[in-house]
Amino acid sequence: MGKLIILDHPLIQHKLTYIRDENTGTKQFRELVNEVSMLMGFEITRNLPLKEIEVNTPVTNCRAQVLTGKKIGLIPILRAGLGMVDGMLQLLPAARVGHIGLYRDPETFMPVEYYIKLPSDISERLLIVLDPMLATGGSANDAIESLKKRGAKSIKLMCLVAAPEGVKVIQENHPDVDIYICSLDESLNEKGYIVPGLGDAGDRLFGTK
Ligand code: URA
Repeated sequence: MGKLIILDHPLIQHKLTYIRDENTGTKQFRELVNEVSMLMGFEITRNLPLKEIEVNTPVTNCRAQVLTGKKIGLIPILRAGLGMVDGMLQLLPAARVGHIGLYRDPETFMPVEYYIKLPSDISERLLIVLDPMLATGGSANDAIESLKKRGAKSIKLMCLVAAPEGVKVIQENHPDVDIYICSLDESLNEKGYIVPGLGDAGDRLFGTK
C-alpha cells in the first residue's frame, strides 16, 4: 500500500488554518496556497537521490552533492491544481509541467477528462500530481490512471486536504503512489465537499462562484 504522509510542520499547519478560514479573500488564499505548496515541495523532495561531484570553492576543491536520478514533472489537475504549481516551481524551477483537465460531474461525482497535455518523456520522470482537495478520489484516481496508461512509472500525489474516502480509493487502486497531504479531514458531505475542508478550492483560488 502507498504511504500516507501528513505534513505536520507548524508553518504548514498555521497557513492551512488561514486557507480554511472563510474570511480569507482570494489574494491571500492564493498566496497561502502558493506558500504551503512550496513548503510541501520541500518535504516531498526529501528523499530525492544525490550524487557527489567535484567542486572548486574559492578556498579549495571538495566533493559535494547534487541531485541525480529522475527529473521531475508537475501535473496539476485543472483547475484548482494550478494554484500549487508556482510554489513547487520556486523549488524545482526546471520541472516540466503537464496538465490534466478533469471535472466532476455534479450528478454522479464521476470525473470527465476534457484536456491532457504532458511532457513527452513522462516514463522517465518522477511525476507529482497536484490537486488541493482529495475528496472522493475520483479525479486524482482518473488522472493517475491516465498517466500510467501513457507510460508513467513513478508518481506521487500532493494535496492540501484529504477525506478518508479519497485516500482509500488511491491506496486501493494505486498502491505504488504515496500521498502527501497537510490534513486528513473528517468526511465528505452529501455534496462531495470535504468536511471541515476549505470549500471549493477552485472558486476560492480564482474568485469565481
Ligand atoms: N473539491 C473542492 O474544491 N472542495 C471540496 O471540498 C471537495 C472537492
